[in-house]
Amino acid sequence: MKELSENHQTQTAPCYILAVETSCDETSVAVVKDGREVLSNLISSQIETHKAFGGVVPEVASRKHVEVITLMLEQAIEESGIRPRDLSAIAVTQGPGLVGALLVGIVAAKTLAMALGKPLIGTHHIAGHIYANRLTHELKYPAMALVVSGGHTELVHMESEGKFKLIGRTRDDAVGEAYDKVARALGCPYPGGPHVDRMASEAEQVVPLPRVWLEADSYDFSLSGLKSAVLNVLNQAKMRGETLEASAVARGFQEAVVEVLVEKAVRAVRQYGSQQLLLCGGVAANRGLRMALQERCEREGLELLIPPMVYCTDNAAMIGAAAYLKWQRGEISEFDAKADPGLSLEEWSVQSV
Ligand code: KG4
Ligand code: ZN
Repeated sequence: MKELSENHQTQTAPCYILAVETSCDETSVAVVKDGREVLSNLISSQIETHKAFGGVVPEVASRKHVEVITLMLEQAIEESGIRPRDLSAIAVTQGPGLVGALLVGIVAAKTLAMALGKPLIGTHHIAGHIYANRLTHELKYPAMALVVSGGHTELVHMESEGKFKLIGRTRDDAVGEAYDKVARALGCPYPGGPHVDRMASEAEQVVPLPRVWLEADSYDFSLSGLKSAVLNVLNQAKMRGETLEASAVARGFQEAVVEVLVEKAVRAVRQYGSQQLLLCGGVAANRGLRMALQERCEREGLELLIPPMVYCTDNAAMIGAAAYLKWQRGEISEFDAKADPGLSLEEWSVQSV
């Protein structure tokens, strides 16, 4: 990160950030005013393409991003009503994500930034998921974020705005990944998370499955054992010639996942004195998780924030919201910034308070 040399912002001038997100299988471009107000947020999903392969194929994802990115940039700018020369900065997801997919967004963002003479802000994908909450709510610190997506399962403590400390993470599969694998075993198409969620809510019976707590004081998660337990239950039933209700398995899996997520998140909020719990990432769409967290937080008098669905799954508006943290502090990226699949959230924290 470098500092802006000229006085790029005044107290009164609004900030318009054009943001680009291409880290996985959604191409998205947004224009966000002052880190909160979404002027445009276009999302092109590749799910239909990847469905045929049962998961995201990295090379295909990159090619699809290339196909649509230019047109989406034009349309997002047009829809925002902001002239390109009035943009304050160009933000782009720098990592984590699929390297080839990230690269498409980065090249597009750099080209636009150079052509327009605007600063570039390389942005962390998970900071984006967390700050999606700021598009609809006022945030209070210290805050705790529970990040649950296809690639991430993390508890993030924020002492103050833009300061991230990872206090727990998955040691193997991410929650969304586990959902997708279980869904596949139950015969559902990709991405299977929403199918498992629906089946769980319709189930009349439940197949009990183990809760994976790890060490008593740990905020880490582990999903692969639970996923194997699901596969074992299905295989054993098959060998005995029995048929298990898929919905009962889905419910057992969901209950096991949700109980551990809720328990650890609430314990973290208590230990760190968090004023708010922010739920974010694609799995924040899960009805079982939302309901259990809402119920628990209400009972314990904790404030829970959940972004609207469109800002839970991958989108560029959330990248614009996170990039604004850096913009406010004049912390911008060099033009040789590279795609970084392993970008650290803690290191991406703002440097000044
Ligand atoms: O955040 P996201 O859009 O992409 C990543 O950054 O990974 O999350 C996608 C993940 C997929 O694994 C999908 O199955 C899961 O979120 N997902 C759900 C639900 N809706 C989406 N998982 C469980 N229940 C849902 N309702
Ligand atoms: Zn994501």
